[in-house]
Amino acid sequence: MKQDRSLDAYKSIQEEKKTPRADRKLRIGFIGTGGIAHAHIRAYLHMPDVEIVAGCDIVPGRAAAFFKEFGLEGVRCDYKDHTEMLADPSLALDAVSICTYNRQHAPCAIAALKAGLHVLLEKPFTVTLDEAIEVMRAEKESGKILSIGFQPRFDENMKMIRKIVQSGELGKVYYVQTGGGRRRGIPANPAKTSFIEDETAGVGALGDIGCYSLDLVLHALGDPKPLTVSGYVSNYFGKDPGYVAYRGHGELADKFGVDDFGAGFIRLEGDVMLDFRISWAMNMDTPGDTIILGTKGGLRIPSTDCWNGTVGGPMKIYHEVDGQQTETVVPIINQPVNLWDAKIRSFLDAIIEGGSSPVPSTQIIYNQAIIDGIVRSATIGKEIEIEIPEI
Ligand SMILES: NC(=O)c1ccc[n+]([C@@H]2O[C@H](COP(=O)([O-])OP(=O)(O)OC[C@H]3O[C@@H](n4cnc5c(N)ncnc54)[C@H](O)[C@@H]3O)[C@@H](O)[C@H]2O)c1
Repeated sequence: MKQDRSLDAYKSIQEEKKTPRADRKLRIGFIGTGGIAHAHIRAYLHMPDVEIVAGCDIVPGRAAAFFKEFGLEGVRCDYKDHTEMLADPSLALDAVSICTYNRQHAPCAIAALKAGLHVLLEKPFTVTLDEAIEVMRAEKESGKILSIGFQPRFDENMKMIRKIVQSGELGKVYYVQTGGGRRRGIPANPAKTSFIEDETAGVGALGDIGCYSLDLVLHALGDPKPLTVSGYVSNYFGKDPGYVAYRGHGELADKFGVDDFGAGFIRLEGDVMLDFRISWAMNMDTPGDTIILGTKGGLRIPSTDCWNGTVGGPMKIYHEVDGQQTETVVPIINQPVNLWDAKIRSFLDAIIEGGSSPVPSTQIIYNQAIIDGIVRSATIGKEIEIEIPEI
């Protein structure tokens, strides 16, 4: 059957398989031991060739409580911040996981790279494009691995999207619509405001979940460079004292300093138009599925109600088979891949093998340029050109 053959074509795009070597334990440190550090440490604890030797958090006692929670003894964590930890030569660190809130991504990544360490940096890359460029300069100077924490890249369904686009099945892609989000889902409560305050987050839904939708389509398309952006941001729900989602959120309206909705119309290299919108809160269930339109076929990727970087159901290719309009369902691949283990392992393997970064800054810089471009364009109310200097 023709349909089966066309699906086989995607499967035949082989991925390189790597064999981890565990000839010496890599010495790992943590910068930031809040929420997401828990996912990092669980994955590191699955790795036989890792020793967690240090960690720091600017909240006194938080790092010690974190390591105690995981039953780890002897981990050095008596540092007031990342600077003090990175200056301790007795640790002989190989690498750090940076799990700080967004505003501290760039300073911590630059400091760690300058200290000669490999860096696994949580998403979003940074808050601004300028910061990302500074991190990349430090990366280049250090010669170390910098990988950005996009674990959906390891999801087999996400890989399939890229395989379909790269196989040529859709022909020349010319228009892409992506994004998604939540009806009510601002990630904050009175005990945790680091996602909504400008001084910690710097960017809201755009950087929290928007970066995932952008990565989905940009990576599928082969990481094209963004050329221009016309952007929009708003914060009607975050600034509303009557907003009810998490208990007590209304009290946080005064603290809300980022976007809860963002949209952009982005011209990409290769004559592709990208139409993007993302929401932490809106009066709608979804702003739509992701669609990729090409001259020979179109791909529909069902949205999820949360949008944290996965597909919401079986995808469909709209194409012609022997002149007939045909829809081919691409079933969900149910593979027991622990995305966190895959993300951490890919980083460790790159260090051990001296290979290239699994989620490189050279790709994610375009994601950051779009987020930065949307914010800048929204501020001045006009389309802007994106300029990324040679690094
Ligand atoms: N990949 C994912 O699925 C995923 C999921 C959630 C969060 N994240 C990302 O992870 C980051 C952190 O999110 P979180 O939920 O853990 O936030 P959080 O506020 O719970 O934790 C951040 C921690 O970093 C500490 N910190 C800040 N600056 C520091 C510094 N200079 N030195 C040491 N410690 C410092 C804070 O005190 C805090 O404990 C965010 O950028 C977020 O976008 C990623």
